[in-house]
Amino acid sequence: METRRVHIITMGCQMNVYDSEQMERILAPMDYRPTSNPDKADLILVNTCSVREKAEHKVYSCLGRLERVKRKRPGLIIGVGGCVAQQEGERILKVAPCVDMVFGTFAYRRLPDLLREVAEKKRRVVDIDMAGTVEPLDTRPSEFQEGRATAFVTIMSGCENYCSYCVVPYVRGREISRKPEGILKEVEDLVERGVREVTLLGQNVNSYGMKDGHGLDFVSLLEAVNDVHGLHRVRFTTSHPKDLSDRLIRAFGRLEKLAPHIHLPVQCGADRILRRMNRGYTRDYYLSRVDALREIRSDVAITSDIIIGFPGEEGADFEETLSLVKSVRFDNLFTFKYSDRPYTPARKFRNKVDEKVKGERFARLLELQTKITLEKYRSLVGTVQEVLVESPSKRRGGQMAGRTPCNKIVNVADMTAPVGQVVPVSIVQAFSHSLLGSPERCGSQDRCPKGGILHAA
Ligand code: SAH
Ligand code: SF4
Ligand code: F3S
Repeated sequence: METRRVHIITMGCQMNVYDSEQMERILAPMDYRPTSNPDKADLILVNTCSVREKAEHKVYSCLGRLERVKRKRPGLIIGVGGCVAQQEGERILKVAPCVDMVFGTFAYRRLPDLLREVAEKKRRVVDIDMAGTVEPLDTRPSEFQEGRATAFVTIMSGCENYCSYCVVPYVRGREISRKPEGILKEVEDLVERGVREVTLLGQNVNSYGMKDGHGLDFVSLLEAVNDVHGLHRVRFTTSHPKDLSDRLIRAFGRLEKLAPHIHLPVQCGADRILRRMNRGYTRDYYLSRVDALREIRSDVAITSDIIIGFPGEEGADFEETLSLVKSVRFDNLFTFKYSDRPYTPARKFRNKVDEKVKGERFARLLELQTKITLEKYRSLVGTVQEVLVESPSKRRGGQMAGRTPCNKIVNVADMTAPVGQVVPVSIVQAFSHSLLGSPERCGSQDRCPKGGILHAA
């Protein structure tokens, strides 16, 4: 059979990145090979995100561009998957005539059948059925994924927290945990292929296993992953503060491969708004979790998400958010302006915040956090950090890029270390989103005990 090319455009969170890789694997037996060049593709898939209005707009502008491509190449097949596909279904076919196939967050597993229907029966298809397994269909080593130091492993799907602003529970369905055996096998296979760091993914990883009775909770799963021979680091994201148990916090002090970084979205610093968001914790509780984490590991990096301008947010509420940010001093912060999402209760809440006010608050928070982030980065200048080399640097020619245990990007000048090696790096300069370092030279003529770069003999 003639080899065909598939180009996948991935939007949204890491779980979509994982799903896009799954799509590549599922299509491989149909002789589709991935290509990064859309002009060479016979099939273009757009894996979409619906978490904010802006993300959804991005999908439609992308489909607008693809409309022009399809006019020039009518044989091209275009599919839309992911969260907007799940949310909109049939409507996408109506507004985007170039689209042949709409498949939801579960339906990507049925891509081969859907494709056959499009190609052979010349029919446009929609599959947004949320039935079926959440186990990946294929986790065996894939030739497309060679030469990587890091990988994502989705451990659960869906979410049942129903934060009042959030569309995820409606487009990803109920919370289902994968079986631990499959997860561990996947991690072992990745390690065999050269992966040194895995990030376990879920919308709320700390509730892993709670509803499915697989016999392991999240901490026990972490322990098992920590024991995988040859793995160097494990991370996870995202954790919900309400489910951040003392046991999980203590794991940061005892699991040697667990990287000292946690993404712990707070969303807002005011109790009144946290309640309306249905987050299930208070400001004081959040601060106490931060203290407990730092008590166990003083160097733990904490990052967070904040929504600005949730309906009813007043100036005083926003001041409480600013004061929480000043008090926690996050290593990094992702700030979003609230937008109404389909199905969510918050879209019906009154007292929507004016866009201009949202813009002003956003700018103030950004200014504060930029200063804090830079101070945090600058405090690392002069230290030696253990960097896992991930790839040639995107920005700077001749440099390699990697991350510290605390998840900070380091560009390393004058380094020949291969992808996957862990090297001690002296940090020489700090920027707003990255560090610059040089490899520690080791005096040993034989083998550096810390993995440093040896002086030429
Ligand atoms: N499961 C994760 C986050 C998933 S969505 C958690 O609970 O933290 C990623 C982030 O998008 C959220 O943390 C939130 O800050 C933001 N977000 C979600 N819905 C939003 C909305 N309607 N408007 C603006 N930001 C939103
Ligand atoms: Fe959305 Fe809340 Fe679930 Fe996160 S925990 S995915 S914000 S509903
Ligand atoms: Fe977006 Fe869906 Fe992820 S809405 S954030 S791609 S779960």
